[in-house]
Amino acid sequence: MASPTFSDRIERIPPSGIRDVFEAAGDDAIDMGIGQPDFPTPNHAREAAVEAIRAGRADSYTPNRGLESLREAIVAKHERDQGVSVDVDDVIATAGGSEGLHLAMEAHVDAGDEVIVPDPGFVSYAALTKLAGADPVPVELRDDLTLDPAAVEDAITEDTAAFVINSPANPTGAVAPREDVAEFARIAREHDVLCISDEVYEYTVFDGDHHSPMEFDTGGNLVVVHSVSKLYSMTGWRLGWVTATSDRIDRMLRIHQYAQACASAPSQFAAEAALTGDQSVVDEMTATFKRRRDVLLDGLAEIGIDCPTPRGAFYAMPKVPDGFVDECIERGLIIVPGDAFGDGGAGHARLSYATDEATIRDALDVMADAHDAVTE
Ligand SMILES: Cc1ncc(COP(=O)(O)O)c(C=O)c1O
Repeated sequence: MASPTFSDRIERIPPSGIRDVFEAAGDDAIDMGIGQPDFPTPNHAREAAVEAIRAGRADSYTPNRGLESLREAIVAKHERDQGVSVDVDDVIATAGGSEGLHLAMEAHVDAGDEVIVPDPGFVSYAALTKLAGADPVPVELRDDLTLDPAAVEDAITEDTAAFVINSPANPTGAVAPREDVAEFARIAREHDVLCISDEVYEYTVFDGDHHSPMEFDTGGNLVVVHSVSKLYSMTGWRLGWVTATSDRIDRMLRIHQYAQACASAPSQFAAEAALTGDQSVVDEMTATFKRRRDVLLDGLAEIGIDCPTPRGAFYAMPKVPDGFVDECIERGLIIVPGDAFGDGGAGHARLSYATDEATIRDALDVMADAHDAVTE
């Protein structure tokens, strides 16, 4: 019997290393591994979906790009937050930021190309680059875990198709300062390479402001990837969007048409309500994350673990001694080894504080014991 053959492309990508950690830690483990906000989806978003379902408005395909009313809400969001005006047809509603990243890669990257990715960085960047047949080029971060535009510029070769930026960042919590974002825009424009800007954590910034390359002149070499997953605690709804120039949208839409047809209709109604409704939920979530961050940082400092201050998202990425992550997992605390996010993450751990303060304090007790055990 012929053995099944798999594409060369699929054999290039390993399964995500993050899942292994959850399995190793057991069922009643303390969880600082998960990357989703622990808040309910705002009620008005849920209700909008329920109403649409009840009224039979969510039964059919929507336009491929997504409901016009949702895209208008996205246009208004970019006007409000980025101060830029976007055409309603230059947006595609996607199945989360994950699909947006996939569309951006598939539409712009060929076999043999290079894509510059932050290292450590979100696991999808290197994997989707490989799936497109291209090679990820990891760029190490600065000591404060921000991505250095000069390092990105140095890594550009004649094969570079794109570079990925992500602020606020997973797994580091780093937020790119305005001058760096302006530099990334200049690099995209001057080197004529695509900047893929992953802004799914936009609203979770504690100190300073979020900046997008949309605010600067990229010469059109920009795809912004967005999602309601982390903005409004809606990971399960699988709804995001991409924003780009018409020619790029046209190419991404071809993939989206064949692979997806359209994003889930009920989720589109929910996302529209989240974007247009009361935004105070966002402030409440951000204030809560900031309090938790401070509890975590104080606790880590007491233990003697050095951690650059994360200014956004809900992750911290301290340097940890050898054996620390395994010791924590054995003691029932789920944290993710830094090298799950690239070689540049070695010697670090990613701690997610999308969990309540009591859990963070319990986790700190475990970390203190684990630290003693490996440094004795
Ligand atoms: C940096 C980053 N980008 C994109 C995503 C994808 O999120 P979603 O597909 O839920 O929008 C995640 C999810 O963890 C992420 O951390």
